[in-house]
Amino acid sequence: MHSRTLGRSGAVVAAQTLGTMTFGNEADESTSHRIIEAYLDAGGNFLDTADVYSRGTSERIIGKWLAANPKDAERLVITTKGRFPMGDDANDYGASRRHLSRALDASLQRLGVERIDLYQVHAWDALTPLEETLRFLDDAISAGKIDAFGLSNYTGWQITKAALAAEHRGWAPPVTLQVQYSLLVRGIEHEVVPAVLDQGIGLLPWSPLAGGWLTGKYRREEAPTGASRLGENPERGMEAWSLRKDDERNWAVIDAVREGAERLGCSPAQLALAWLDRQPGVTSTIIGARSVEQLQANVAALDVDVDEETLQHLTEISRPQAEVYPYGELAIKQRHRDLTP
Ligand SMILES: NC(=O)c1ccc[n+]([C@@H]2O[C@H](COP(=O)([O-])OP(=O)(O)OC[C@H]3O[C@@H](n4cnc5c(N)ncnc54)[C@H](OP(=O)(O)O)[C@@H]3O)[C@@H](O)[C@H]2O)c1
Repeated sequence: MHSRTLGRSGAVVAAQTLGTMTFGNEADESTSHRIIEAYLDAGGNFLDTADVYSRGTSERIIGKWLAANPKDAERLVITTKGRFPMGDDANDYGASRRHLSRALDASLQRLGVERIDLYQVHAWDALTPLEETLRFLDDAISAGKIDAFGLSNYTGWQITKAALAAEHRGWAPPVTLQVQYSLLVRGIEHEVVPAVLDQGIGLLPWSPLAGGWLTGKYRREEAPTGASRLGENPERGMEAWSLRKDDERNWAVIDAVREGAERLGCSPAQLALAWLDRQPGVTSTIIGARSVEQLQANVAALDVDVDEETLQHLTEISRPQAEVYPYGELAIKQRHRDLTP
């Protein structure tokens, strides 16, 4: 598996991150441990979790594995997140110093580690002054609890504001941004991608298969059933069946991915992941799996030899249709410093 540096930090991470949102949910403890091992066997070294994943269970499952495998644990670059509710009290969530300091300590304890390589703020918090969050993160680095920090689900202006606010005060800057990005969800290309490229922030796409849609396993005419994310809960999150099934553009993209994969002799999931790995700014794609088989199939995506024509076709067919002024063609041309009409 090829590697890249983590934004402007010196850490080197694999081009695919192991996402662990399924741990303690679709994947029980022993399956989760086997998924970690299969990922390491494939050459991976970057593991993403969050305190909210199964309310601390994902971190606990990882912590148990780290304790039992200290040598392999040493190789891993570990990232977790705080900000979403971990209790019912008004202070059990948010990006305040009060909440994040407790959330970070609890994550360290569940993971059983002394420091976390990358600590991420799971989402923007409109209530907490940005400087309070940034100062806390800088202090956490000075205290040796984290090596670096990242952001997640921020908009372009929020990323730039955070990066510049940290720089002006001489605090550590954000090194990564984790956002939803896939052939079905490309909204970040308008402003988030230019913002991270401008600030040298590494992009970590989540839900690269749109929660399973880009595997081609959901069909127009059949409501999902069985042991799949939507089979178990058709209305789950951003993958929801009702959200996507009436959108003809989604089906056109899925059909194109299926056809391209057939031509190349790979799976639709592999082609969708290979496309994403080649997009500007992408540092490491966060892949999720409920089984070792899914994990092994998806890490092989990086070995798929995809021709330019196929990549271009997927880019064209999945291009967001509505032009949102001023993020249209002009913005794309400006990004490439080509202003000829
Ligand atoms: N920062 C954030 O706000 C945020 C939000 C969401 C996720 N994340 C991170 O991103 C990671 C990945 O997100 P995601 O799980 O939504 O990613 P995804 O790759 O879009 O979806 C993964 C799911 O697709 C299905 N799948 C994967 N490979 C498959 C294959 N080869 N064949 C058939 N089905 C397959 C599986 O679900 P089923 O088999 O159950 O259908 C699997 O759990 C998470 O683990 C988490 O670390 C971050």
